[in-house]
Amino acid sequence: ASKQRLLVVANRLPVSAVRRDDDSWHLEISVGGLVSALLGVKEFETRWIGWAGVNVPDEIGQKTLIKALAEKRCIPVFLDEEIVHQYYNGYCNNILWPLFHYLGLPQEDRLATTRSFQSQFDAYKKANEMFAAVVNEHYVEGDVVWCHDYHLMFLPKCLKDSNRNMKVGWFLHTPFPSSEIHRTLPSRTQLLRSVLAADLVGFHTYDYARHFVSACTRILGLEGTPEGVEDQGKLTRVAAFPIGIDSDRFIRALELPQVQDHMKELKERFAGRKVMLGVDRLDMIKGLPQKILAFEKFLEENPQWRDKVVLLQIAVPTRTDVPEYQRLTSQVHEIVGRINGRFGTLTTVPIHHLDRSLDFHSLCALYAVTDVALVTSLRDGMNLVSYEFVACQASKKGVLILSEFAGAAQSLGAGAILVNPWNVTEVASSIGYALNMPADEREKRHHHNFVHVTSHTSQEWAATFVSELNDTIVEAQLRT
Ligand code: UDP
Ligand code: G6P
Repeated sequence: ASKQRLLVVANRLPVSAVRRDDDSWHLEISVGGLVSALLGVKEFETRWIGWAGVNVPDEIGQKTLIKALAEKRCIPVFLDEEIVHQYYNGYCNNILWPLFHYLGLPQEDRLATTRSFQSQFDAYKKANEMFAAVVNEHYVEGDVVWCHDYHLMFLPKCLKDSNRNMKVGWFLHTPFPSSEIHRTLPSRTQLLRSVLAADLVGFHTYDYARHFVSACTRILGLEGTPEGVEDQGKLTRVAAFPIGIDSDRFIRALELPQVQDHMKELKERFAGRKVMLGVDRLDMIKGLPQKILAFEKFLEENPQWRDKVVLLQIAVPTRTDVPEYQRLTSQVHEIVGRINGRFGTLTTVPIHHLDRSLDFHSLCALYAVTDVALVTSLRDGMNLVSYEFVACQASKKGVLILSEFAGAAQSLGAGAILVNPWNVTEVASSIGYALNMPADEREKRHHHNFVHVTSHTSQEWAATFVSELNDTIVEAQLRT
C-alpha cells in the first residue's frame, strides 16, 4: 500500500537556511525538540511546510531557496522582517512562550508589551494565514495536515474555513497552562476557538489536555467530555500523546568509530573527575541560573569534590533578538564567571560553559560519557534531552536528575531523581546523592528509564496521533 501523505506544518523547518554570497544556500539542521522528534518519523510520505529562519526579500533568493529545500521535502513560508519581529519575536516568544510556561512577562517589558499586544496579535493572525496559503497550495485530497505548536494556534481555523473536509490535527509541544493563566490573555477566546476547529488536538501529558479542556469550558462555556470538547453537537477530540525520540538512532551512533574515538578523548580529558552534563537551549524555561547556583552550593558544601567533578553545560543560543533572552545570556555568563573564578585553579575550572550547538555525533559521545545529567527546567513540555541521555547510557548507567516540572517527569519519574529546580538546597543535595549512588541502584533506575525510552518512540507517537485523527474523522462521519 502507498504511504499516507502527511503535511507537517510548523513554524520551524527541520533545516534552517544560511545564504552564501552567490545565491546558493547552506542548510543546517535546526535545534529543538519539535524538529528532533519529527525527524524520527518515517512511515509517512511527509512534506514539511515552515519558515527557514531567514529573511529572503528578493525573487532570485526565494526561487533558489525553494529549490534547495525541495530536496529535503521542505516547502518554505516566506516571512518578512516586520512579521518576524511582531509574530515570532513578539507574540510567540515574548507573550505565548513565557505565559504557557508560567513565567509571566518580564517586568521590563510589561508596559511595552501591553501597548503592542494588538498589533502583535494581528501579525500572528496574518502569519498564520500565510502558512495556510502555502498549505492550500500544496494540499492534495486525502492528505493529513498536522499543525504544530504555539506559533500556529490560528491555523486550524484558517484551514477549515477554506476547506472543511481537510483532516486537520494540532499538537502542542509546550505545556498548556492552567485556565487561570490562559484567562489573562487578551486573545484567549479567539485562540481557543481556532484550535477547536481542528479534528484532533493533542498534548504531551494528560494534565495539559485537562487544562485545555477546562479553559474551553470556563472561558468559552462549552461542554467538556472524556472525549474532548463539544460545541453544538460538534466534537473536537482532545487527548494526550506523549512524544518520544528515535532511540535506535542514538544507540546505533554510539557504535560508530568516530563517536567511539570522541568518547575516548572525552574520557581522557576528564580522567579522575565525574562528568555532569546539561544540554539546553539558552532559554528562561530551562532554569540555567538555578542549575548553576545549585552546583555552586554543592561545591561550597563539599570541598572534597571540588577537583573531582566538572559540569559541562551546552547552552545553544536561541531567539537572540528577544530582549529577555539577551538578558538571560548575560546573567548566565556572569554567574558562570563568578563560580569559575571562585573555585577554579590555574589548570581547571568547575564549569565548562559553551554558547553553541554540537553536531549529533559529538552530542551522543557526550551523553555516553556523562555520570550525572542535570535537567532543571522551570517548566518544559516534555524535554527530550532527558530521553536522549537515557538512550545513550546503556553501558555507563549514569544518573538523571530531572525537574518535576518537565513533562518527562511523568514518564521517567521512577528512574530519575526528581527535584524542584527552585529549591537550590534540594538540587545541591541531589547532586551529592547522584554522585555517590551505588552501582546497583544506578542500574535499577537506568533500566526503568531505558525500557521506557526505547519503547515509546517518536515513530509510535506520530503513528498513534495520525491514526487517532483518521479514526476521529470516521467516527464524526458516522454520527452525522
Ligand atoms: N540539540 C541539538 N544540538 C545541540 C543541543 C541540543 O540538536 O547542540 C537537540 C537535542 O538533541 C534535543 C533538542 O535539541 O533533541 C532539545 O529538545 P528538548 O525537548 O530537550 O527542548 P527544546 O529545545 O525543544 O525546548
Ligand atoms: C521548542 C518549541 C519549538 C521550537 C524550538 C526551538 O521546542 O516547542 O516549536 O522550534 O523550541 O525554538 P525556535 O524558536 O528556534 O524554533
